[in-house]
Amino acid sequence: MDITYAAKQYSHAKLIYTTPSHQFPLGTTLSLPRRLALLDWAQQNNAWIFEDDYNSEFRFSSKPIQALQGLDNHQRVIYAGTFSKMMYPGFRLGFLVVPEILSEPFTMMKYYSDSHCGYLEQAALAQFIQEGHYARHVRKIRKICHDRQNAFLSAINLYLPHLFDVQMTDSGIHTVCWVKAGYDIRIILEQCQQLGFGAQPLSRYCIESRNHNAILFGYAAHNENDIISSVKRLSEKLTNLYPT
Ligand SMILES: Cc1ncc(COP(=O)(O)O)c(C=O)c1O
Repeated sequence: MDITYAAKQYSHAKLIYTTPSHQFPLGTTLSLPRRLALLDWAQQNNAWIFEDDYNSEFRFSSKPIQALQGLDNHQRVIYAGTFSKMMYPGFRLGFLVVPEILSEPFTMMKYYSDSHCGYLEQAALAQFIQEGHYARHVRKIRKICHDRQNAFLSAINLYLPHLFDVQMTDSGIHTVCWVKAGYDIRIILEQCQQLGFGAQPLSRYCIESRNHNAILFGYAAHNENDIISSVKRLSEKLTNLYPT
């Protein structure tokens, strides 16, 4: 996020929505100086920052950077976390950490908009956390996803280096691959679909319909062997379509 540009371009903004630990969909991490600049801007403009920390648990090698919420000395940050990724998407539980002044209006809004989160799931999760199982589960899932990401990257490097430039990230549960010149992204996506890949065009996530030749590959739901053999099969299919 270019804070200087955003502050100039949207000088009347009252709220900024951001995913600083893992920008969706490209996967970049907001640096500490930019975090501090954003907090500065929010304080000076009396604006709110909505920090969607939807997958900070999936940081693989580098140290986590402190959340905006933890760096904020002026109560400008509304922090959101979710259990959709670590537990499962249908779990439908998340949480907010809000500045004290917003606590009452948020409680009221929650009551009027959605007063009944599943009690059973909340009680079971609370016990899961209290007994230390959740922290262990996070470590285990993080390692599994890291291994799956490595398997995906190695397979792309081995079988499809002529087709894709990988957008490197050391976090998250998907990887963005840029399609090199000379290849038709629609044909690649069609082949991915036939092979059952979790693949989506990057353009789906653009506000303006720009011609971004990149594909998001989700690998978290597949084991390493399946990932490697699927990339290999994709390369075989594409070799028939694009013989060298
Ligand atoms: C950017 C972003 N924020 C938040 C979430 C989590 O949403 P939920 O807690 O409703 O599953 C996701 C899920 O994929 C996401 O991509």
